[in-house]
Amino acid sequence: MLVVNHVMFEIQSIEFSNKSGFYEELLLQARGLLTGEHDRVANAANLASLLHHALPDVIWTGFYFYLDGELLVGPFQGKPACVRIKLGEGVCGTAAQLRETQIIEDVHAFNGHIVCDVAAISEIVVPITSNDELVGVLDIDSASHGRFDDDDRKGLEAIVNLYVHSLGY
Ligand code: SME
Repeated sequence: MLVVNHVMFEIQSIEFSNKSGFYEELLLQARGLLTGEHDRVANAANLASLLHHALPDVIWTGFYFYLDGELLVGPFQGKPACVRIKLGEGVCGTAAQLRETQIIEDVHAFNGHIVCDVAAISEIVVPITSNDELVGVLDIDSASHGRFDDDDRKGLEAIVNLYVHSLGY
């Protein structure tokens, strides 16, 4: 249990077999967690924790922020990660440059993939934008092949949208 703004917040376990229902419930929990706070680091930190604990079969969940022309690691859960990523490099830099979610079934087959944790096999990276300005990316890794699909993309894009709105941009 965690005290958020002096209110108890407990991550509820959610049934994952119905993915769209899972993401609807996760979005509600995320909204409860972010309401009332606008700081981008604070909200990214709590969101990384919520996602990492709620999503099954993930090994790294976190944020990179766009700063001075490159991506700089932000709040995350998982093993230590590479600190700076250039636009267009790796899965994160590709998602940021194209402003398009990347779903990678097998990172070994992705030309230019940046290895942070050798256990990672599949990955999803969702760009974070506000009024066409790049804010950063949300990156999630799994040790399973093909862990992420279009339902994850839709669900995580909705959560990223909530995050952007929480910042009050
Ligand atoms: N694999 C990413 C780098 C970040 S880590 O996975 C945390 C990439 O290729 O951009």
